[in-house]
Amino acid sequence: MSAQQLNEQAWNAFGRHHLDSGTVLLDAVRIDWALSAAGPGTEVLGPLEGRRVLDLGSGTGRHAAHLARDHQALVHAVDSSAWQHQRAVSAYGHLPGLHFHLADALDHLASAEPYDVIYAVNSLPFMAPHEALAAIADALAPGGLLAFSVLHTPSDRRPPSTTVTPRPETLRLRGGEDLTVHMYVLTSQLWEDLAVEAGLRVNEVITIESPDDSNPVSYRLFLTHRA
Ligand SMILES: C[S@@+](CC[C@H](N)C(=O)[O-])C[C@H]1O[C@@H](n2cnc3c(N)ncnc32)[C@H](O)[C@@H]1O
Repeated sequence: MSAQQLNEQAWNAFGRHHLDSGTVLLDAVRIDWALSAAGPGTEVLGPLEGRRVLDLGSGTGRHAAHLARDHQALVHAVDSSAWQHQRAVSAYGHLPGLHFHLADALDHLASAEPYDVIYAVNSLPFMAPHEALAAIADALAPGGLLAFSVLHTPSDRRPPSTTVTPRPETLRLRGGEDLTVHMYVLTSQLWEDLAVEAGLRVNEVITIESPDDSNPVSYRLFLTHRA
């Protein structure tokens, strides 16, 4: 089975577990790019009213719902996990200006009208980076913005990889068994090189550390534009 198929299986198990457990979704009041309330929020996306926005790997749809509801953006949200999609549609499917798509990110990008803004909160590391970044660059309107956050240091402190190779990471299920996912946990330089190769200009790379000193987990947020 490919890394992508294994990830889809894991995210289906994750979504199913939360549906079965009746996990209550809390509405988002900002985009949390990494850990809750750490680092910058929605403002890095600039003005959003009336803009065509894509949430790539949207999960429960909390962030997409926040942009449609609180910023009047026209939001499309795509996720390949049937159970994550179901959670999103049940919670937020009624909101005006918000459309959920159950699809693989690359398939959606290949057939979509151009977006002004595409963002991905910790979902790009589950996709093959060369293909995903090239497809995103093609799906952005000229000058369009791509913002994406990625895991940089996991809790076991393993450093990021210097080659474009996925590696197993543990997805913790509260009240359930741990799941294994296959992630691209890459150095910032490598993500930058991949973005530039895809035709994107990297404006800023922001480090987001855990506010808890004993937690080594660290993320990077990339703000880029279609060149
Ligand atoms: C860590 S979760 C992040 C969810 C959401 N962005 C958030 O912040 O709440 C990663 C999500 O990416 C989705 N995903 C992974 N690979 C994907 C792909 N190739 N196409 C679409 N969605 C994908 C998973 O199903 C999962 O819901």
